[in-house]
Amino acid sequence: MKVSIIVSITADGFIAQNKEQSSLQWTSKEDTKFFVEYTKKVGVLIMGSTTFETINRPLPNRKIIVLTRSKKYDQFSPDQVVAEGREIKEIIKELEASGQQEVAITGGASIYTQFMKEKLVDELYLTIEPIVFGSGIKLFNEALDQKLELVEMIDLSGQTKVLHYKIIQ
Ligand SMILES: NC(=O)c1ccc[n+]([C@@H]2O[C@H](COP(=O)([O-])OP(=O)(O)OC[C@H]3O[C@@H](n4cnc5c(N)ncnc54)[C@H](OP(=O)(O)O)[C@@H]3O)[C@@H](O)[C@H]2O)c1
Repeated sequence: MKVSIIVSITADGFIAQNKEQSSLQWTSKEDTKFFVEYTKKVGVLIMGSTTFETINRPLPNRKIIVLTRSKKYDQFSPDQVVAEGREIKEIIKELEASGQQEVAITGGASIYTQFMKEKLVDELYLTIEPIVFGSGIKLFNEALDQKLELVEMIDLSGQTKVLHYKIIQ
């Protein structure tokens, strides 16, 4: 099973100005379209509860696994949104055993970092938007030392590019 990080960053490496900020507030419509199409193709998304709170609703035709140690999302159908507090390795193993082909890791910083540290990530789709924040939430929030291989650059528009990397295992 392929595990892919999907993220949009500013030209200076931030994913948000603060925890409450939704990516839709600053990313391009082309990137939103890329995110929607890619995640619909994958079908299963994993995100932290802080990121989920910025969306706070199911996403059509996708299942969201929300990592949380304290929250419940019983108001949503478990086919659409499910709270999960187990070890991330266990969640990945179970998805793989169920025959899932790919899972999209959709943030935020704490989730991206944990998946990288546990060496669970195969690929990285990094959209670079033409904006700088100067301060805020960085893509990763702990030290990492991971080499990448550039697979391709996807042109979403004249202004917005996706760098698609493979993780060198
Ligand atoms: N630009 C982008 O592409 C992009 C993408 C995604 C997110 N973001 C932004 O990133 C920001 C949020 O990032 P963040 O790092 O602060 O928060 P986050 O990673 O979205 O969520 C962190 C929360 O998830 C839960 N959690 C974390 N690790 C867990 C684990 N191993 N098991 C169970 N629960 C776990 C904890 O919540 P509980 O208290 O519920 O246990 C923790 O407080 C938001 O501003 C969001 O908009 C940007």
